Amino acid sequence: MTKRARRMLALMDRATTLWHIPVVGRAKGRVIRRLLERHRPTRAIEIGSLLGYSAILIAGALPPRGRLTCVESNPYLAKFVKSNLEVAGLGRRVKVVGGDALRVLPLLSGRFDFVFIDAVKEDYLDYLRQLEPKLVPGAVVVADNTGVFRRDVAPYLEHVRASAGRWESREHDFGDDAMEVSILRG
Ligand SMILES: C[S@@+](CC[C@H](N)C(=O)[O-])C[C@H]1O[C@@H](n2cnc3c(N)ncnc32)[C@H](O)[C@@H]1O
Repeated sequence: MTKRARRMLALMDRATTLWHIPVVGRAKGRVIRRLLERHRPTRAIEIGSLLGYSAILIAGALPPRGRLTCVESNPYLAKFVKSNLEVAGLGRRVKVVGGDALRVLPLLSGRFDFVFIDAVKEDYLDYLRQLEPKLVPGAVVVADNTGVFRRDVAPYLEHVRASAGRWESREHDFGDDAMEVSILRG
């Protein structure tokens, strides 16, 4: 990750902590960075970007030819995400698509090898179902807030944990919340 992206993340860390803004944050961010370093995906997608914190984290840790697509339903926030990515020096690696993910996902072309899901909790399974045909074997899917919103994401967890061997899935526990990391088997 470049110094510029790191500086931007540090600034956002301070602001989001101060104002209690729900971004993925440092502890989960470390796990995401490790996953990106291990799996080296090149076509990533994020659902729910808010101010661009997780987008900067992901785009900054992708290998040089890696690209990230961000889907954000709030048009004002989508512009903000774009501008924050520019400030972090990552604008050219990221495409920000404004719109409801459930409408946008079916229209996206190409395939993905990394997914970060962090929008409407009850819709996690629908996002995944729409993305599944576009995922390559070995794709890594990270779902945030599976601890705090366990009841809302229950159908999603059931899908990735009991899918007849299609997914290899495990929970990362952070005490106050959890994140589910699932890998699509070949
Ligand atoms: C928890 S925030 C995302 C935080 C961000 N991933 C981070 O860690 O920096 C959830 C975001 O999802 C967006 N969102 C809500 N419903 C959505 C939908 N149907 N499609 C796309 N984005 C959505 C919200 O506008 C909000 O910005």
